Amino acid sequence: MKKFLDQISEQVENAFEAAGYDRDMGRVTVSKRPDLCEYQCSGAMAGARRFRRAPMDIAEGAAQKLAGCSMFSEVSVVRPGFLNLKLSGDFIRGYLEEMRTDARFGAEPTDNPQTIVLDYGGPNVAKPLHVGHLRSAVIGESIKRILRWHGDRVIGDIHMGDWGLQMGLVITEVKKRQPDLPYFDPSYSGEYPAEAPFTVEELEEIYPYASARSKQDPAYYAEAMDNTHRLQEGDRGLRALWQHIVAVSVADMKKNYRNLDVDFDLWLGESSVQSLIPGMVRDMKESGLAYESNGALVVDVAEETDSREIPPCIILKSDGAALYTTTDLATLLDREEKYSPDRIIYITDKRQELHFRQVFRTAAKCGIVRPETQLVHIGFGTMNGKDGKPFKTRDGGVMKLSALIGDIREEMLSKISVNTEIGEEEAMQTADQVALAALKYGDLSNQASKDYVFDIERFTSFEGDTGPYILYTIVRIRSILNRYRSEGGTDVRELAVRAPQSAQEKALMLDIAGLSEMLEGAWSDLAPHRICGYIYQLSNDFNSFYHATRILTEEDPDKKEGWIALLSLTERILCACIDLLGFSAPERM
Ligand code: ARG
Repeated sequence: MKKFLDQISEQVENAFEAAGYDRDMGRVTVSKRPDLCEYQCSGAMAGARRFRRAPMDIAEGAAQKLAGCSMFSEVSVVRPGFLNLKLSGDFIRGYLEEMRTDARFGAEPTDNPQTIVLDYGGPNVAKPLHVGHLRSAVIGESIKRILRWHGDRVIGDIHMGDWGLQMGLVITEVKKRQPDLPYFDPSYSGEYPAEAPFTVEELEEIYPYASARSKQDPAYYAEAMDNTHRLQEGDRGLRALWQHIVAVSVADMKKNYRNLDVDFDLWLGESSVQSLIPGMVRDMKESGLAYESNGALVVDVAEETDSREIPPCIILKSDGAALYTTTDLATLLDREEKYSPDRIIYITDKRQELHFRQVFRTAAKCGIVRPETQLVHIGFGTMNGKDGKPFKTRDGGVMKLSALIGDIREEMLSKISVNTEIGEEEAMQTADQVALAALKYGDLSNQASKDYVFDIERFTSFEGDTGPYILYTIVRIRSILNRYRSEGGTDVRELAVRAPQSAQEKALMLDIAGLSEMLEGAWSDLAPHRICGYIYQLSNDFNSFYHATRILTEEDPDKKEGWIALLSLTERILCACIDLLGFSAPERM
């Protein structure tokens, strides 16, 4: 089904052509002056020079060809040459009917799907998930759903940090606390215990402790480095201990991500590509693209057009150790080999921009990816507290994700139990669901690259541009539909939409008609905030319509049924949109 705006444009393009002008002059946009018209076309001005005619003349000519066209209720020409358009109720009705009777609201999946690897989440093993990882998970999950809705084949990979010094630090501290474990006994040749020698809580306490101590205690640091090397060299005992660290940590991550309604197809990490590094480095050296500089192995990636200096990409440090960059290059090699993706998209803090620029250029230059593989980094801004500084706990520590979610849940629960008389269990479940919406919407409604202020009060408010407001709107619609059903109304899904009766109803219908256009934009820009903007407007327009219309008490059954159909369509669209954002609505709240 053709997009709404394309259908209108096509009609106006025909008119320009029939009047003797070029089709491209008939492109229509949403009106910038909604007080005057709904859609507008400024092609007459753009084409005036080309045709050496006054724009007013051109516009008049095109307008004449639109006379009597059933798509418009009004076509007017205004200085200096605009075509102002209002749509006929019947045309809008017909379009919405097509949307209503299709499971995808008339938006067909692409016939040119891409294979896309989406690298998001990126938590680090043995370290607690903190709010910095929240954005990657929330934005990534939504982008994944948007791409899939479009029809692309998406492989979501969590790409954990499960290698390197952080693991050596944890191992060192475990050894200090439990020196007698078999993992540290080089002469031990039996099977290692199946049970991990620590809980996840202990693990989360061990890492920060070890990290802080290594900064003050050079001997401790040296030991951690040594353990890191041994692990990387394949020491049997340390490997077995490392596996416990990963398993305990991953089990906890899975729980956390499940609570966030975020999931991954692949649970790979930095460790999974380590075996590819030696061969990759050898090839890079052999091609002459990687060379030694001050003892390190580097690849030049600066380009003439760079406006700021891009330093060489370091592949191996002078002690021969691989880096974050090296692992990302090896991961690219692996992904190319396994999936030959059209695109690989990374979602991290925007402070990693230089890192990805270096990785992407090195990968292209050294032939690690095919020339046609598109590499994209979406860098997001910082989540700040109300003081404008990166979000911290009340006592200034790093905020754990679970604590943050707990806070929102509590806030939501207090609002929900005050508002309704639902039982405790349902209230708790609803609070969870609404809290997740508050959290995700609060994040996704901003353009990803921007910093934003995490404001619990605002995010959990039932009014304004918030997740709870959207859910509240959905619940309101559902309650009307339920009442209609309980009063013996016909099957809601069978009812047809009618032409609008009021300005409010028309505005709501026009919002609905713009769905495909908006989704296409959200897909091409990888921009969940477009969906938020759309459903906020849709909710506002629905609520204006609702306040202006007595729906259930309407005497005329035709009118009433048309409105019920419109409500049901609105509800389905809101639900489809929040699903793309990664949350859902409760039955009541
Ligand atoms: N673990 C990293 C961090 O916490 C993020 C990983 C992002 N993905 C990647 N392929 N580098 O910063």
